[in-house]
Amino acid sequence: MVNFKKFNLNDYKDYLIVTDEKLSGLYGIASDNVYLLPQGEQAKSFCYVEKLCEWFLSKNLERQGRIVAVGGGSVSDVVGFAASVYKRGVNLTVVPTTLVAQIDAAIGGKTAINLGTVKNAVGSFYNADVNIDTDFLKTLSKRQLTDGQGELLKYRMLSAGIDNACGKDMLDLIKACVSYKTELCNADMYDLGIRRKLNFGHTVGHAMELSLNLTHGEAVANGLYYETLLAYKLKLCTKNYLDKWQREILTRFTVYPLTDEILNLTSNDKKNTDGNISFVLPDKFETVCLPLDTVKSLL
Ligand SMILES: NC(=O)c1ccc[n+]([C@@H]2O[C@H](COP(=O)([O-])OP(=O)(O)OC[C@H]3O[C@@H](n4cnc5c(N)ncnc54)[C@H](O)[C@@H]3O)[C@@H](O)[C@H]2O)c1
Ligand SMILES: [Zn+2]
Repeated sequence: MVNFKKFNLNDYKDYLIVTDEKLSGLYGIASDNVYLLPQGEQAKSFCYVEKLCEWFLSKNLERQGRIVAVGGGSVSDVVGFAASVYKRGVNLTVVPTTLVAQIDAAIGGKTAINLGTVKNAVGSFYNADVNIDTDFLKTLSKRQLTDGQGELLKYRMLSAGIDNACGKDMLDLIKACVSYKTELCNADMYDLGIRRKLNFGHTVGHAMELSLNLTHGEAVANGLYYETLLAYKLKLCTKNYLDKWQREILTRFTVYPLTDEILNLTSNDKKNTDGNISFVLPDKFETVCLPLDTVKSLL
C-alpha cells in the first residue's frame, strides 16, 4: 500500500527506525529506536545486514514487529533485505526521501545488497508499505534531482499519461509513476514478463554507468537516447518519436559518445540470453534480442 502524507516522527515512535547519518542530521531523526547507517551505497553490504539484524535482536523485535526505513534507495534496499530475512520476515514501511526512491526504489518490492564489486548481487522480493512525503525533496542537491530525472524520463517515454502529468504538480507526477510501476509489479512481481518494460534504457545505461562512472540517472538518460536510436534503426519507432525524445534528453543531460568498449560491456547484462544482447525497445516496449555485432553495426 502506498500513502502520500507528511512524515511525522511521532507516527513511528512504536517502531524501530533505520535511516542514514545525513538524514538523521537534516531531519532530527535520532532516539534509541533509531539505527544510523552510513550514507549511500556503502550501506548495501552483508556487514550492515548483520549489524541491523543484531540490533533488531537487541531491541527484542518480534515476528509481528515493524521496521521503518527512512532514506534513499540505498537505505530501502539494505533495510528491505534485512527485514525480509530477520525472523523470516517482519513488517516493513519505507519512507523514501529521494526522487529516485519515491518513483522507483521504494516501489515493487526488490531489495538488494552488493557483493564485492557486483552491484545488487544478493537480494529478495519483499513487499513494504510506502509513505511518500515530497517535502523531503527540498533538501536534495541539484545533481540528486537531475539523477531522478533519468528514471522520470523513462516513465514519460513509457506512458503518455505520465508524460502529460509532467510540468504540473510534482506530487501528481510522482503518483502517476508510482501507480504505473505498481500496476506492472502487481501483474509480474518476479520480473518474468511485463515488468521488464522498466528495463528500457538500462542495457546501454548500465554499461555506460560502469565505464564512464556516471550516476544511475545520467546513465539511464544516455541509455534511453541510444536505445531509442536502435529502435528507430530497426524501424520499431518513428522519426518523430526519436527526434522528440532525443531533444528532450539533450535539454537535461550530457550525451556521451558510445564506444565499442561500452557496447562490449552490454554482453554482461543479466537479461541476455543465448549470447544475444537483450533490449526493451519503443514503441511497443517488447524485448528484442540482438547479436553484439548487429548492435555495433546499427549504433
Ligand atoms: N530496489 C529497487 O527497485 C531500486 C530501484 C532503483 C534504485 N535502487 C538503488 O537505489 C540506490 C540509489 O538510491 P538513491 O539515488 O535514492 O540514493 P542513496 O540512497 O544512495 O542516497 C544518496 C545520498 O542522498 C542522501 N539523501 C537521501 N535523501 C536525502 C534528502 N531528502 N535530502 C538530502 N540528502 C538526501 C543520502 O544521505 C546519501 O548521502 C542504488 O543503490 C540503487 O541500486 C533500487
Ligand atoms: Zn534504473
